[in-house]
Amino acid sequence: MVCHCNNVTRKDLTDAFHQGAHDVTALAGATRATTGCGSCAPVVRSLCATLGRRADDRSRAADDSRTDAKRQGSTPP
Ligand code: FES
Repeated sequence: MVCHCNNVTRKDLTDAFHQGAHDVTALAGATRATTGCGSCAPVVRSLCATLGRRADDRSRAADDSRTDAKRQGSTPP
């Protein structure tokens, strides 16, 4: 449980992130995390940053794959 005030789990936050809530304000709107006492805000911020980095890494890897495929004259799998 990340947010005890509103019973919000890490999975709830991760699901909301993948559905487009990409900052703390959006995550709060989607899940209500951070909207009670606020003590979970640092954890929500950290999780949001981690998920953002993972999304960036996946995007960069996909771009690299497409670039490599173009250089080799094929399409990525
Ligand atoms: S623990 Fe999340 S608002 Fe209180």
